[in-house]
Amino acid sequence: MLSLGIETSCDETALALVDEGRILQEVMFSQVDKHSIFGGVVPEMASREHLRKLQPLWHSLLKKSERRAGDVELIAVARGPGLLGCLLVGLGFAKGLAMGLKIPLVGVNHLHAHLMAPALEQEIEFPAVGLLVSGGHTSLYKIDSSIEFELLGRTLDDAAGEAFDKTARALNLPYPGGVYIDRFASFAEPDPDMFPRPYLDNPSLDFSFSGLKTALVNHIRKHPGLVQENPLEITPDSTPDPELARVCASFNLAVAETLQAKLQRAVSATGVQNVILAGGVAANSMIRQKTIKLCSSMGLRLILPSLNLCTDNASMIACCGEILARHGLYHDLELEAVPRGRK
Ligand code: KG4
Ligand code: ZN
Repeated sequence: MLSLGIETSCDETALALVDEGRILQEVMFSQVDKHSIFGGVVPEMASREHLRKLQPLWHSLLKKSERRAGDVELIAVARGPGLLGCLLVGLGFAKGLAMGLKIPLVGVNHLHAHLMAPALEQEIEFPAVGLLVSGGHTSLYKIDSSIEFELLGRTLDDAAGEAFDKTARALNLPYPGGVYIDRFASFAEPDPDMFPRPYLDNPSLDFSFSGLKTALVNHIRKHPGLVQENPLEITPDSTPDPELARVCASFNLAVAETLQAKLQRAVSATGVQNVILAGGVAANSMIRQKTIKLCSSMGLRLILPSLNLCTDNASMIACCGEILARHGLYHDLELEAVPRGRK
């Protein structure tokens, strides 16, 4: 089944052709440079960019893959969660194509797509515990099959990616800041006592990262020299000064250890043998290393997507759409966006 994936939930406009779980071709336009001067995604600008870019990307996808529009057999589109205006642009495009090509349409949950993305590279065994760490979500799931997701816990305030991005903003590093903190962290040894491991005293599987952000802001108040003068001069390959590197390493460690502790609890509570780590923050080197270590010490099988499948992409949408279609699950043209779904 040749499937087109459409991803427009935030600031990446992405299309992909996937055939039975195999990526044929991907095209993507990242709006990051447009939003970075504002320190975050400007929703209206993001919707307009999707509208501008979808059509040329679609043509470029067909050209690169040497396929014709008529070859596509399924349209899979991210229906949420995400920014409403952005989702509506993707849905409009998807419905137009499905109607014009007279092929089935399926709306995909963006979070489930992150968790199923590794299926593009390896077989996923179930049941599994899924830790989804992205810019908008930090959630733990028990996943019984490729279409059965039980939410075990979620963040009560900031998502892990948001905590990285807000921390970077407080340090006047460019947006999105996760990758800067990750890279700069490698230049120093973390101080395990610099920041708290938030919400671990609470026995639930929920997270709360806002306290960590406050601890960081207080730390910056005491050390104002940490705030960078000009984010436009900083790239992920810049060499940070030692004190900035130590703060990044310590913050990174605090997030990584907090995620590990709750992941360990979720595994113990469910008794499953398989773990999936997914979402943009799963690209973080320390979080990857710590998860690999934890799973090997607990004798668990870790399913870790490669870096390009962690951050937003359209192949994961097509892959998840194919899974739903295989189960006979489709949508009609009434399909609506679900901007705020938690599951
Ligand atoms: O999954 P994603 O691409 O988009 C959402 O669905 O939110 O995740 C984006 C988030 C951003 O907050 C970004 O800073 C974070 O993932 N991120 C990272 C890294 N790469 C991306 N955070 C920490 N370390 C990284 N290497
Ligand atoms: Zn995402």
